[in-house]
Amino acid sequence: MQQISVIGSGTMGNGIAHVFAQYGFQVSLVDTDAGALERALVTIAGNLDRQSGAGVITGAAKQAILDRISPHASLGPGVREADLVVEAITENEAVKLRAFRQLDQLAPQHAILATNTSSISITHIAAATQRPDKVVGMHFMNPVPVMKLVEVIRGKATAGSTMQTVVALARQLEKVPVEVNDTPGFVANRVLMPMINEAIFALHEGVATAESIDTVMKLGMAHPMGPLQLADFIGLDVCLSILNVLHEGLGTPKYAPCPLLVDLVAAGKLGKKTGSGFYNY
Ligand code: NAI
Repeated sequence: MQQISVIGSGTMGNGIAHVFAQYGFQVSLVDTDAGALERALVTIAGNLDRQSGAGVITGAAKQAILDRISPHASLGPGVREADLVVEAITENEAVKLRAFRQLDQLAPQHAILATNTSSISITHIAAATQRPDKVVGMHFMNPVPVMKLVEVIRGKATAGSTMQTVVALARQLEKVPVEVNDTPGFVANRVLMPMINEAIFALHEGVATAESIDTVMKLGMAHPMGPLQLADFIGLDVCLSILNVLHEGLGTPKYAPCPLLVDLVAAGKLGKKTGSGFYNY
C-alpha cells in the first residue's frame, strides 16, 4: 500500500491527504473545483506550519510532506495508480454513487475504494461497483491531523481482508480504528447529530442564546466545543444531510432536522466555511 488517492479536497479531504503524506504515502488529491484544490494546498501548508511550530514535525519534513501530495483536477490521472482511494466529496448519495461508478472503472483492479461518508450506506455505495468486497467506510474525524478516531465501517459485502487492511492502515497513521456495522450514521453521527439538532431546537425556541447553549455544554458537560460551534465547524449543510439520512433511514421523527437548520442552509449560511452560521467568522 503506497499510493493513496483522496477524492474531494474540502474540509475533510485536505486533512486526509495531509495525514497520509505525513506518514510517508504518495498522495493524489483530486477535486473538480480548481479553487478548492488551491485552497486545500494552502490549508495543508498552514497546518504543517502549526505542527512544525508545536514540534510535531521538523521544518525539513514540511517540504517533503508537501512534495508527496500531487493535485489533480480530474479523476482519471488522479486514481490510475491508486492502491487505496478515499472518497471525501459532498454528502449526497446520488453524487457518491456516480463517483463510485467512475472510480470502479478508473482505479486498478486491486484498489480498495473507501468512503469518508458520515452517514450514507456503505452497502449501497458498494453496489454501484463491480468490487463490493473492496468497498469500506473509512470515517475520519475533523480536524483529521488532530483527531485520533477512525470509524471503519463494514458494508454487507465488505470482505474481512478489506477491513483488516484498513484497520492496519489507520494504525499506521497513529489513529485508533473502531469497527462498526453499516447502519445510518454509524455510531459517531447517530449519537452526535441528535444532540446538535436538540441544541438548534433550543436556540430556535428561544431557550437561550447560542453562546449560552454552548457554554452550558462546555462547562457543564466538559465538551471541548459547544454543539452549535461544532455544527458550524462541521458545516451546516453536512449536518443537515446527515440528519436527513438518519431521519429517512431509521424512520423515526426524532431525527427530523430543526427548521432553523434547514433555513440557515437554504440561506447559504453553512458555518465556518462560508463565514457565518450560528456565529460569524
Ligand atoms: P466539503 O463540501 O468541504 O468538500 C467537498 C469537496 O468535494 C469540494 O471541494 C467539492 O468541490 C469536491 N467534489 C464534489 N464532487 C466531486 C467529484 N465528483 N469529484 C471530485 N471532487 C468533488 O465537504 P466535507 O465537509 O469535506 O465532507 C466530505 C465528506 O466527508 C462527506 O461525505 C462528509 O459527510 C464527510 N465528513 C465530514 C466531516 C466534517 O466535519 N465536515 C467529518 C467527517 C466526515
